[in-house]
Amino acid sequence: MFSKETYLQRRNQLKNSVKNGVLLFLGNNEAPMNYPSNTYRFRQDSHFLYFFGLQLDHLAAVIDADEDREILFGDDYTIDDIIWMGDQPSIQSLAERCGVAESRPFAALAEYLKKAQEAGRTIHFLPPYRHDNRILLHQLLGIPFEKLKESASVPMIKGVVALRERKSAEEIAEMEKICDLGVDMHLSAMRGAKAGRLERELAGTAEGISMSGGAGVSFPVILSQNGETLHNHNHEQLLENGRMLLCDAGAEAMSGYSSDYTRTFPVSGKFTQKQREIYEIVLRANMETFQLARPGIRYFEVHLNAYRVIAEGLTALGLMKGNPADAALAGAPALFMPHGLGHMLGLDVHDMEDLGENYVGYDETFQRSTIFGHGSLRCGKTLQPGFIVTDEPGIYFIPKLIAIWEKEGRFAEYINYNKVREYIGFGGIRIEDDVLITDTGCRLLGKPLPKQPDELEAIIGK
Ligand code: GLY
Ligand code: MN
Ligand code: MN
Repeated sequence: MFSKETYLQRRNQLKNSVKNGVLLFLGNNEAPMNYPSNTYRFRQDSHFLYFFGLQLDHLAAVIDADEDREILFGDDYTIDDIIWMGDQPSIQSLAERCGVAESRPFAALAEYLKKAQEAGRTIHFLPPYRHDNRILLHQLLGIPFEKLKESASVPMIKGVVALRERKSAEEIAEMEKICDLGVDMHLSAMRGAKAGRLERELAGTAEGISMSGGAGVSFPVILSQNGETLHNHNHEQLLENGRMLLCDAGAEAMSGYSSDYTRTFPVSGKFTQKQREIYEIVLRANMETFQLARPGIRYFEVHLNAYRVIAEGLTALGLMKGNPADAALAGAPALFMPHGLGHMLGLDVHDMEDLGENYVGYDETFQRSTIFGHGSLRCGKTLQPGFIVTDEPGIYFIPKLIAIWEKEGRFAEYINYNKVREYIGFGGIRIEDDVLITDTGCRLLGKPLPKQPDELEAIIGK
């Protein structure tokens, strides 16, 4: 937890941007795995964490902008809780830790909101994403379930995004540390790769590192020789020489901050020529981001550059044809990279995605593309200092997608389907780094993680 001044300042800024009404924050609750007392690892809601810093379940808070007061709602542990879960500081002392003057029992929240509603005041809340909090919001505010999302407060969403998207120095320091831990996860996977081992042995070791140095993984580890399935959580295959292994993994700090890296490398420790040719295209797309990303440029432009690099590289290999810049703009490389170049990163691995990607990655001046591939870009807007984005280009050979596009003759002017068919079974390659936008450009977060083919060959299996 940061000092209480941090949370006070954040809340004041939010209050000044939303201006009036009651801003309601619901913390997360314990989530049962298979029966109520056997729970998943507790994860606090990221907004609650950002504005209050408290990592305990069953809390709520209000910032009352009309009455200029803040209240934390929660229940002190009873002796029954203490027997099973240990003692906890009182709710009042938790409130003081984050600079909130007042605390009340959780049950008092309903009455507080009812009075505010009766007085005709606006209750601002963020779109709920957990079912228990949807039920609670419905009970508290009387809004039908199907209307909860659209009833969320746009001024509050925009105010939260404006604060959370620009990371402060103390947040960047947290990010650096958790990026280093993410790098260690990947180094273990590289060193552990050997034909005959199970993918899950590597995934489990990487996850163990995230738990020993932090709170655990920032999302379920993706580690698969079938890298063409973008979010492949199956780890049951035996590693085989001749195949590429894609590992997309990151760690979450005890403070909640996340890292997110991807590396792809040959199981055998030696790239074949065909693998190296495709790999080097993805690497170039990844590296050029570091030359382009800076304040004032739209991340969409950087994404478009990655598409152009992929089109150029694949044209040189005969898989594509025509003018690469035109092909990129039209969206033809989406056959090979059907996702965007990256997303914001912070307390969430896809930062603030619960608020709606269009509020986070786009704004009034720049809307999301409707073209397949470009439309998958989660963050397209103009970069500012303090943004943290991922840089994750890829090339994948997805048999069913190739078959559909070929049948439809899609982008036949740019794609040599005969040649593309030769790559079915190749798998997929993605290279992902975490990038901080600085005042003048950008820089990599975390210690360097090998990505040059020679560097990878020197470490795989060793
Ligand atoms: N780990 C999911 C992603 O890279 O977006
Ligand atoms: Mn990733
Ligand atoms: Mn990512």
